[in-house]
Amino acid sequence: MKYLVLGSGGREHCIAWRLLNDGSASEVYVAPGNGGIAPEYCIPIDPANFDAVKKICLEKKIDVVMVGPEAPLVSGVVDYLSKEKIPVFGPSRQAAMLEGSKLYAKRIMEKYGVPTSAHRDFQGKESILSYLSRIKDYPIVIKLDGLAAGKGVCVASSQEEAHKFVSENCFSDSIVFIEDFIDGEEASVLGISDGENIFPFIAAQDHKRAFDGDKGPNTGGMGAYAPAPVINETRLRQVRDEVLVPVINGMKKEGHPFKGILYAGIIVRGSDIKVLEFNVRFGDPEAQVLLPLLKNKLGDLIEASITGNLSKKILEFQPRHAITVVIASGGYPGTYEKGKLIVGLDRISSDIIVFHAGTQSKNGQILTSGGRVLNVTACADTLLQAREKVYQEITKIFFEGSFFRSDIAYRAIPAR
Ligand SMILES: Nc1ncnc2c1ncn2[C@@H]1O[C@H](COP(=O)(O)OP(=O)(O)O)[C@@H](O)[C@H]1O
Ligand SMILES: [Mg+2]
Repeated sequence: MKYLVLGSGGREHCIAWRLLNDGSASEVYVAPGNGGIAPEYCIPIDPANFDAVKKICLEKKIDVVMVGPEAPLVSGVVDYLSKEKIPVFGPSRQAAMLEGSKLYAKRIMEKYGVPTSAHRDFQGKESILSYLSRIKDYPIVIKLDGLAAGKGVCVASSQEEAHKFVSENCFSDSIVFIEDFIDGEEASVLGISDGENIFPFIAAQDHKRAFDGDKGPNTGGMGAYAPAPVINETRLRQVRDEVLVPVINGMKKEGHPFKGILYAGIIVRGSDIKVLEFNVRFGDPEAQVLLPLLKNKLGDLIEASITGNLSKKILEFQPRHAITVVIASGGYPGTYEKGKLIVGLDRISSDIIVFHAGTQSKNGQILTSGGRVLNVTACADTLLQAREKVYQEITKIFFEGSFFRSDIAYRAIPAR
């Protein structure tokens, strides 16, 4: 089988690695790809250009397209390629609204009884500002509708903070909602669906803040591990039965069956779970810890999702632990320099997997080309062993300005 993976991050390198390594694929092209993927398999096109994607599929005789990031899904790449009779893994444009519009997701959750915090809608800056001036209880959470690349949510601990966010980010036609703040521990539960059935993966936990101790600005994710013990077996069943299954059934009733990866951002407090948001694709860096532990062939699951045959599969994971730590460019998530030479990749132990993200291959050298640069990943029998392995090896890799968090998985195991 020949695959085309759309995207350029650590998640896409991991998907490509997995498809090749478990025998799902004979060849995997990645568009546009990165420095971790052999140059002859990187296709320099923009995944938003559906015509170009189709052209490559025909030229390279691609059997299946796998979409990494949310943007092409939300703008309808699955509908477009399906019409052209090119098999593609992921949700339709309408089903991808679960990520594309937080308000749509909220309405689906409310309609189908999925646990999530109570909310109140607003249209336009003035109406929300006038409401904010009347409420006294903080924190509250303000969410802008629509894709915002992680910048559309404000957890406001005071009226001033709430006012500032709304003043800076809302316009007269903005659609915004406020929801109750929930205090708890976050985790991600991803499920794979064929539109009828959904099967959960083991839970993972991301680390969004730039620095140790969850300090500093929000990022795309600085590291992850799986399984996350905050979602024990009982809670995982609870997420399946109270969240994933009702959403899949609901979307079918709405006439927009959901196929692909449904990612639920969950907040756990005691035995209570609530959904913070949905994503409609693998998380980055969650994919980098889930896929190495998956026992099934990834290609079998993708095919079963596309053809509606997932009920015949049993999703299985190795009873092991995985951890991934992101090496980032100095200054990220703010401004940073690119083009730094990365050294030490050749000295990494063979049981470590280094997924590339913001890298570029040039004249046989690997240079930085993004904020999140590499994902250093290890699997072991215990989480402690996996963490030791990663942190022993990670210092062998270096580029000017590089930094990483040294406390990934701290919620599950005490600090080193
Ligand atoms: N209702 C809530 N209660 C507490 N924290 C929240 C709530 N909603 C969002 N957050 C915090 O804000 C972060 C971002 O919100 P999320 O809905 O995941 O949006 P996005 O990932 O698109 O920025 C969450 O990871 C969580 O830390
Ligand atoms: Mg989120």
